[in-house]
Amino acid sequence: MDDLTLIQIDRNVKQWLHQARTLVLTKMAERLTVNEKSSRKDLVTNVDKENEKFLITKIKNYAPDSHVLGEEGFGDQINREKGWIWIVDPIDGTMNFVKQQDHFAIMVALYIDGQGVLGYIYDVMNDELYSGGPNLGVFKNDVQLDQPANTALADGLVSLSAPLLIHDRFNLLQAADESSGVRVYGSAGIEMIHLLTGKIITYVSYLKPWDFAAGKILGETLGLVTSTIDGQPLDMLSSGFVMVATENAQRDILPIIGQNG
Ligand code: IPD
Ligand code: CA
Ligand code: CA
Repeated sequence: MDDLTLIQIDRNVKQWLHQARTLVLTKMAERLTVNEKSSRKDLVTNVDKENEKFLITKIKNYAPDSHVLGEEGFGDQINREKGWIWIVDPIDGTMNFVKQQDHFAIMVALYIDGQGVLGYIYDVMNDELYSGGPNLGVFKNDVQLDQPANTALADGLVSLSAPLLIHDRFNLLQAADESSGVRVYGSAGIEMIHLLTGKIITYVSYLKPWDFAAGKILGETLGLVTSTIDGQPLDMLSSGFVMVATENAQRDILPIIGQNG
């Protein structure tokens, strides 16, 4: 794809996301319908569903041959990486959305034949849209971001998902102890933003494709490594334990995790 086409797609996606943000803010002012999915800690609201439908309609009108993987199930069944695949998380951090009305994101990613092309993470309440990809660079609104420093584990803050820490999975308590400290934000998108801007240096969580699709593209563009928890390549259509980190933090953390499954 030439750069002109890429810039045109980017411009369109940003427009949809600005409209999606307005939709979310408008609906937030009304009474939410909240339902449990797999458990009382796994919520979905009418806004998640309406925003997913909105984004999928925009995508399908613009690029009808695309396939869309949406968290709330309004997209397509996808079992292969060929062609244009869009991955949509209409509200990432739904628990934060419901309990805090803050610290949540809208995320969209475009993969073509399995390659990450464009990623978007929109911090709705701060009105900060992180966007870009390998051919464009990464931007916070209109400002291009530099690569974050390649900080080692001992010198940076880490975000480790609360359930993994509480149950000390993968020896993560030791990894936390060897870092500068732990911060947990409850939204994969917001954690990715903190990685992109160098505020944290590692994020470990159990994630589904819509949780990591955009962050993987933006993170790798800025020199961060995304992998499974044991350092293997991520499959964009699979769920699992994911690590996003600076190269040096990943180097430091892998042997610690290797000591305990
Ligand atoms: C969740 C958030 C959370 C992460 C969960 C995700 P959702 O996304 O990103 O931080 O720990 O694994 O499912 O369900 O609010 O879109
Ligand atoms: Ca999510
Ligand atoms: Ca979601």
